[in-house]
Amino acid sequence: MKTLKDLFLDELADMYDAEHRIVKALPKMAKAATCDDLKKAIQSHLKETEGHVKKLEQIFQCFDKKAKGKTCEATVGLLKEGDEIAAEFKGSPAINAALIGAAQKVEHYEIASYGCLHEWAGLLDNQKAAGLLQQILGQEKHANEALNELAHSSLNEEALGKSNGKSSPDAVSAYGGPVNLPRRSRPVGMGRSRVLSVKR
Ligand SMILES: [Fe+2]
Repeated sequence: MKTLKDLFLDELADMYDAEHRIVKALPKMAKAATCDDLKKAIQSHLKETEGHVKKLEQIFQCFDKKAKGKTCEATVGLLKEGDEIAAEFKGSPAINAALIGAAQKVEHYEIASYGCLHEWAGLLDNQKAAGLLQQILGQEKHANEALNELAHSSLNEEALGKSNGKSSPDAVSAYGGPVNLPRRSRPVGMGRSRVLSVKR
C-alpha cells in the first residue's frame, strides 16, 4: 500500500529533475531576452534555482534518502514549448512577453508542486523539510511576481508595439488577464469597466 510519504518522495524526485532542467534552460531564456531587466530577473532566478537543487538534496536527507530525480514530463513539455515560442518570436517586439509567458508557466507549476510538498512535509511532521520547502516556495512566488511586474511596467506595452517604456495603469500581465487592448480592438461587450473588473 502506497503512503503519503511515498507520494511526497515521488513528487520530490519530480521536482529534483525539474530543477535540473530549469537550471539548464534559464541561461538560454536570458540570452533570448532583449530587455535588460528581464535578463537580470532570469539570471537572478537561475542562482535561486541552483540553490533549490541543493535544498532539495537537504530535504531528501531529512527523510534519510539519497537525492534522485524522476523525469518531470510537465517541465519537459513546458520548456519545449518555451523553446519553440522563443524561436518563433525571435526579432518580434513580443519576444519578451513570450518569454515571460513561458517562464510563468514553469513558475506556476513549481508553485503548485512546492505548495503540495510543503503541506505534505507538515503532515509527515518533518518540520525541517517543511521549512526548506517554505523557503523554495517563497522564492518561486517572488520570481513569479517579478515577472508580473516586468509585464505590467513595460513589456506588454512593448509587445503591442508601444515601446515607450512607460508603465500603464491598465497593463495587466498576460497571466493575470487581458493586456491593455486599444479601445478599437476590444471585443464587443468588453468595455473599460469590464477590462478593469477582471484585473487581479
Ligand atoms: Fe525552483
